[in-house]
Amino acid sequence: MNQNEMRAYWMPFTSNRAFKSDPRVMVAAQGRYYTAADGRRIFDGLSGLWTCGLGHGRTEIVEAIGRQAGELDYSPAFNFAHPKAFQLAERITDFMPEGLTRVFFTGSGSEAVDTALKMARAYWRKRGQAGKTRLIGRIKGYHGVNFGGISVGGIVGNRMLYGQGIEADHLPHTLSTRNAFSRGQPAQGAVLADELLNLIALHDAANIAAVIVEPVAGSAGVIPPPQGYLARLREICTEHNILLIFDEVITGFGRMGANTGAEAFGVTPDLLTLAKQVTNGAVPMGAVVASDEIYQCFMDNSGAEHMIELPHGYTYSAHPLACAAGLATLELLERDGMVERVRSMAPVLEDAIHALRGTPLVSDIRNCGLAAALTLEPRGRDAVIRPYEVALKCWHKGFYVRNGGDTLQLGLPFTVEAAEIDAVVNAIGESVRELE
Ligand SMILES: Cc1ncc(COP(=O)(O)O)c(C=O)c1O
Repeated sequence: MNQNEMRAYWMPFTSNRAFKSDPRVMVAAQGRYYTAADGRRIFDGLSGLWTCGLGHGRTEIVEAIGRQAGELDYSPAFNFAHPKAFQLAERITDFMPEGLTRVFFTGSGSEAVDTALKMARAYWRKRGQAGKTRLIGRIKGYHGVNFGGISVGGIVGNRMLYGQGIEADHLPHTLSTRNAFSRGQPAQGAVLADELLNLIALHDAANIAAVIVEPVAGSAGVIPPPQGYLARLREICTEHNILLIFDEVITGFGRMGANTGAEAFGVTPDLLTLAKQVTNGAVPMGAVVASDEIYQCFMDNSGAEHMIELPHGYTYSAHPLACAAGLATLELLERDGMVERVRSMAPVLEDAIHALRGTPLVSDIRNCGLAAALTLEPRGRDAVIRPYEVALKCWHKGFYVRNGGDTLQLGLPFTVEAAEIDAVVNAIGESVRELE
């Protein structure tokens, strides 16, 4: 593509100038491979953007979307519904931990997060505790890009340009050099959950609505929770009447080798956000799943029956095409035993990625389920240049991997074969060794 053809498109989360001087354009995808504009096959090492675990172009999903477009392309989201919205909501609850039974649809992960934060505040108002407004996230957390999400989020680059957000505090992140090169969940660090007690001491629980964390921080570079950490957060939240929100936009629907991160780590939140894998990335969709108690609180405290209990929603909430894609995706996930497959391939990824330990410039390696990341040492004061260069080198070798901050990230397709794991890890190792 020439510069003129690329002029109008302002790309998201992309160095536009660098991209436009060396474009990376995909023109097709099938299974675990993209086809680049120059005809090369590119292995999809991040399942799209943690979206396409089942692989690309799955016939059942493609056909479901096509049929739905022909039958009912759109139906108004407010005051009306279509059958697949109910069906998908029911189906999603099959994958949720016990007690999470009410599904509110959104158009993306960012919208799901802001919805969950609003629900949390509104819930306390409905319960007559209007002072409970403060929201607590975590340093290095990623909760999308809307104002609520960046306020509780903890990645500086995503916050610093935008001025005043909403009132939020942050727990410390759980990365520590003591835990470097841990396989799966690190042994040390559960005590960091107790930092929540300091925030409660500072603000009083009467002013705190909710705590939001990703069970495994994804965008910051696959940071699995220390053993016991999430259980301790749950304990403190319950004890102090604070809602716990798990942002499972990446961890939901299989990536952890379980239906959810909640299931993988044995901790149930009050609200759970999801997106991405729910439709295998084929149509945008997100959702918040709430406990029955939260839903019921809105139903019981909203006046006459014709009154709207939660004045919130999106034009594209429960979009028919997304619902059709979601139903087909969850059917395949179950039919093909994909969650079990992730569980069985996770140790293969773990062994392969940790074999890069000792490679010059690699200062940490982490993994959980079919997700893994490595941290590279900065070049001078620039922490992001090396992962960026490695991702580019991998692209030129035929592998798509993600660079984010000082990390390189893998989110392999659930259908991945052992030989492909070796190939992508080798490409990363080789590319790191080629760096200055
Ligand atoms: C944990 C988490 N929350 C929220 C989001 C935002 O989702 P979206 O990009 O669909 O708005 C993401 C996206 O990567 C995510 O990883």
